[in-house]
Amino acid sequence: MEYHRMIAIKIKSMGESSTIAISQKANLLRKKGVDVISLAVGEPDFDTPENIKETAVKSIKAGFTKYTPVDGVDDLKEAICLKLKRENNLDYSPSEIIVSCGAKHSLYNISQVLFEKDDEVIILAPYWVTYPAQVELTGAKPIIIDTSSSEDMMVSARELDTFVTSKTKAIILNNPCNPSGKVYGKQELETIAHAAVENNFLIIADEVYEKFVYEDANQVSVAALSEETKSRTITVNGVSKAYAMTGWRIGYAAGPQPIIDAMKKLQGQITTNPASISQHAATEALLGPQSDVDHMRKEYQKRRDYIVKELNSIEGVSCRMPEGAFYVFPNIANLFKKKSGAGVIRDSVSFCSYILDEACVAMVPGKAFGCDNFVRLSYATDMQSITEGVKRIKQAVDKLK
Ligand SMILES: Cc1ncc(COP(=O)(O)O)c(C=O)c1O
Repeated sequence: MEYHRMIAIKIKSMGESSTIAISQKANLLRKKGVDVISLAVGEPDFDTPENIKETAVKSIKAGFTKYTPVDGVDDLKEAICLKLKRENNLDYSPSEIIVSCGAKHSLYNISQVLFEKDDEVIILAPYWVTYPAQVELTGAKPIIIDTSSSEDMMVSARELDTFVTSKTKAIILNNPCNPSGKVYGKQELETIAHAAVENNFLIIADEVYEKFVYEDANQVSVAALSEETKSRTITVNGVSKAYAMTGWRIGYAAGPQPIIDAMKKLQGQITTNPASISQHAATEALLGPQSDVDHMRKEYQKRRDYIVKELNSIEGVSCRMPEGAFYVFPNIANLFKKKSGAGVIRDSVSFCSYILDEACVAMVPGKAFGCDNFVRLSYATDMQSITEGVKRIKQAVDKLK
């Protein structure tokens, strides 16, 4: 049988997640005994805090091992409401919350219930790789606005206006941003909110990195700007990054009742509830002590400061100081046209592949995030790997002619 012919075109034409693909390549090399340093993964290197793990064990022993309501247990939804009120100044009732199998799943549900053919969805580049893929899967068109050439990686009100049409249904906003680490200031959020209100489109606010904001940067939830903005915003968050719980698969969305109800309907036919045990663990994450999060943030900040300084000391590399998340996104365009033994560095892909072959360091090409002049390095890994990784990159760049 010709299986390839049987696969639906929408899946065949979907891009593979390049961040996952690179991590897999690095793992494969490691299995072959190559000493690869991966600065590619978007996953905290810290372990899930002990109190959260203990809660999960207790919940298994207490028999919380059955189906739960599709949209999550009441305790967790109430904990999310409390968190949104306390930390984000947002008032939601539990019925306006849906818990899903990770923020990625929440975003997928949102795309599926809102978008269809002929809709346009604005995405600011650099963007998280999954946004355009999820939008395209619905038949809608991602409208990419490249912000990478502006110093503050932000679109101006005037430019945003030129991309808005009568078909614009939403903008996806990632704050703090993966991969740039940008944290949008209040005024910048107001620019976006104003355009959304004026032109009657929705805002999908992905805030999964909100806990990792450094120094005096201040993360503001766009939905908290005004009641009018809140009424057209769906806020997405989760426990993967904040509590080092990537494998537990808990994310959530808060938004207008009809949209959340549509997501519940979809989720009821697709996955039902996220894992019952993970839901109990996530409740503890949100309500329990937050000292581990503080510790992680302090560690990330030290690593960020180090990696930015080191990258900027490499000739041809220029790295903006990111205010949040755990990535740096240096510009490497000045290295294009330089030659290695294997050929010419033409773009972010050939640069990353040169660095992987020459220095055994894995990074993600900026092309995957819609900005080919850049590469993404994650500092969610131990300081020793970061130090050695950057040293190797520096040596490899020095060899370019
Ligand atoms: C911007 C962004 N949103 C959402 C997610 C997904 O998080 P989760 O593990 O909750 O699905 C990620 C994970 O890399 C991310 O970088």
